[in-house]
Amino acid sequence: MREDPALLSTAVEEVLRWASSAAHSMGTATRPVEIRGRRIAEGDRVVLWAPSANRDEAVFDDSDTFDIARTPNRHLAFGSGKHLCIDGTLARAQMRILYTELLDTATGIEQTGPAHAVPSIAVRGPETLPIRIVLR
Ligand code: HEM
Repeated sequence: MREDPALLSTAVEEVLRWASSAAHSMGTATRPVEIRGRRIAEGDRVVLWAPSANRDEAVFDDSDTFDIARTPNRHLAFGSGKHLCIDGTLARAQMRILYTELLDTATGIEQTGPAHAVPSIAVRGPETLPIRIVLR
């Protein structure tokens, strides 16, 4: 990104895909449907596991590679359909501001202690992650 700041937008999308911080969303099938040979009946509870969907090798080339230039990047980090995240726009703007500020002010970020994950199946990410930002 430092070499090519034009990658900011695709980098934000790749972080969203890679981190998949909203781990799952659950819904109830309103009609019977078959998805990849799996039958789902009306009334069945179904779960979208975002980290899995966002590494679907049928959708993403090299899905286990973090690629800030990835295009297209049709990830489901904000869910989909009726309950699509209402403020993906704000989340994206916050990420763009954070990365722009970091690129402007820092030369690196170092982890200074052990990371501990949030104890949740709904939210993915570190609860604590001690870091040191190396300023210019
Ligand atoms: C990186 C940040 C964010 C992620 C990963 C995220 C993810 C999601 C996901 C996956 C859903 C769908 C849940 C479902 O299908 O049941 C959702 C819904 C929602 N999000 Fe976000 N979200 C983020 C930031 C935000 C922000 C900043 C706001 C508001 C300021 C927001 C407000 C909402 C609301 C109100 C819904 C419910 C929409 C509905 O049920 O119609 N989200 N979000």
